[in-house]
Parts: sequence; C-alpha cells; structure tokens
Amino acid sequence: MRKKKREQPPEGFSRRDFLKGASMAVSTGILASPEAANAVPDHSAGVQGPGAVAISLQINGKLHRLKVEPRVTLLDALRNRLDLTGAKKVCDRGVCGACTVIMDGLPVYACNVLAIEAEGHRIETIEGLGAEGSLHPVMAAFVDHDAQQCGFCTPGFVVACKAFLDKHPSPSREDVERGLGGNLCRCGTYAGVREAVLAVATKGGRTNG
Ligand code: FES
Ligand code: FES
Repeated sequence: MRKKKREQPPEGFSRRDFLKGASMAVSTGILASPEAANAVPDHSAGVQGPGAVAISLQINGKLHRLKVEPRVTLLDALRNRLDLTGAKKVCDRGVCGACTVIMDGLPVYACNVLAIEAEGHRIETIEGLGAEGSLHPVMAAFVDHDAQQCGFCTPGFVVACKAFLDKHPSPSREDVERGLGGNLCRCGTYAGVREAVLAVATKGGRTNG
C-alpha cells in the first residue's frame, strides 16, 4: 500500500475543526486530535490477512497476545477480546469520541484504528487511569463538578481530558472548549466537563504523576 502524505493541522485548531477539514482527504484516519495526526501508523509493512494474524498489544502497561483478523478495530479487540469495555461503541465511525483511548500519549478514536495498527504502540484506556478507591484526578473532578449524567460518554471524555491536560496543563476556558471538541455528550454535560478540567488545571494540570 502506498503511503499518503498527511496534512498537518494549523496551530490552535480544535479537534473538530481539523476533522472537518481533513475528513474528505483522509480515508483511514485516527485523527482524534490535531496532535494525533502525527501518530498515524505506517501502513507500508505489507499485506496481512484476510485470516487472523497474531499480534501483541501493550495496554495499560501490560502485554496482551491475541489473534485477530486485520479488519478488526482496536475498539472491538478491546471490548470483545480483552474484556476492556470502558471505551464505548457508539457511532463506530470516528464522530462521537465515546471510544477515545490514548495511543503514545495522544487521544485517538479506537473505532478508527485497526488492532493490527496499534501493535507496537503504547495504549492507555480508562481502565488504566484509576480504580475504585483510587480515582484519577480527572475522574475525581468529574464527580466533584457533576460532569456526567447517563455516563455513557464519560469514559471517552475522561480519557480525552487526561490527554488534553497532559499536553496543555494550564489551559484557558476557550482552550478547553476547543480542545475537547472531538467528544460529544447527548446529555449535555459540557459545562461540568469544562469545570472539571479547569479544576484539575488549577491544581497543577499534568496528570501523569
Ligand atoms: S464510537 Fe468511536 S468515535 Fe464514536
Ligand atoms: S452523560 Fe449521557 S451522553 Fe454524556
């Protein structure tokens, strides 16, 4: 397969701005953020499949070996093969952000990444961020600021907020609005989500410990 030259987003563009502009030009995108455009895996390794191929995925610091057909998305591999169901399958087409995971430090839509493309990359999911009794600062801020209702979009939002704060530890309110533009919430919890992110930012921002 021939490699395509990726467009780089202009400085300061939100995720949604960039996605709008790039959607016609990029056929196999994982562009959950402008920065994530740089993390698009190299497809030139050769033809795989159509049968299952053995891959290893590094998820939340643990190596998982599995066999998947090349058509299987990272989201389906996480949910159906590895029982990591925190990332939600909602639109399954890179629109809503409910499936957001972090790949090599950048937020990506797991429904837009093939599992075989994720091999060799460091994946973080909501399950790796915190647990009952030891909530991640972003999770705790979501509780404090009432940033969820039905909760279906919440794992994707928490992961996106974590990735955003790690890149932008001292954001303005406008930065937060634009930076989280790749995640949708049908319950309309945006105000609470923004307050949660700003609250973590005032306590030091970066959430990598
Ligand atoms: S389920 Fe992946 S972006 Fe909506
Ligand atoms: S809290 Fe219900 S979709 Fe966001």
